[in-house]
Amino acid sequence: MRLFLKKITHPFLKLGLQYYYFKPRNYCYQDICIQVHPDVFPPQMTFSTKILLDFVNTIDLKDKKFLELGCGSGIISLLASKKEAKVTASDINQKALDFLEKNATQNQLEVQTVFSDLFQNLNGQTFDCMVINPPYYPREPKNIKEQAWFCGEDFKFFEKLFVQLPHFLKETQCFMILSQDCDLEKIKAIATKNAIAFELVLEKKELVETNYIFRIVSS
Ligand SMILES: C[S@@+](CC[C@H](N)C(=O)[O-])C[C@H]1O[C@@H](n2cnc3c(N)ncnc32)[C@H](O)[C@@H]1O
Repeated sequence: MRLFLKKITHPFLKLGLQYYYFKPRNYCYQDICIQVHPDVFPPQMTFSTKILLDFVNTIDLKDKKFLELGCGSGIISLLASKKEAKVTASDINQKALDFLEKNATQNQLEVQTVFSDLFQNLNGQTFDCMVINPPYYPREPKNIKEQAWFCGEDFKFFEKLFVQLPHFLKETQCFMILSQDCDLEKIKAIATKNAIAFELVLEKKELVETNYIFRIVSS
């Protein structure tokens, strides 16, 4: 995990990312094509978004209420909408939500965007299905762009998330993607403290990185 943290904070990689992301870039999944703002999590730079897209593609979402918590580019939300779900996409990055609205119009898909720190502005709504691709590197984010990667030195994102999540788990199928690059044991320990358990539903190795999709359930 430290190695990867070094990788994503390495000056050359940072410079490379800055160079590539000096302007919005295109990203497509099937026939859904979007523009991703430089301040938004880049779906083409990691494996997690693509793995979640392939996974969501296998779920029957017709007429289901679907939430992508921390939607970033929102490509997963757009796929869920294409699969006829009623979609809510939330994030604390307003730029991400603005771009998602434009991308939804351009793809003729419907998504309700909500600016929200975790569940704060979701007004107690319930969902049939929820997906989360969380920030998981333990470092304090310095700006909105870094909130996509860093969960806080003390894993604050997970501490808050796992306090709020149990209210939803009765009605909601909740899926979270994590990677071998993160401190899985620490994240699971925070979950356990809040009576939450992880059930492995998918393990996928891409090049040197293994990703896991967990179903999050009450323990
Ligand atoms: C790893 S990115 C995943 C983006 C997208 N879901 C995907 O799979 O491509 C994490 C996202 O969570 C958002 N985020 C971070 N902290 C958040 C919070 N407290 N509440 C809501 N969203 C948050 C970030 O802005 C970022 O868009």
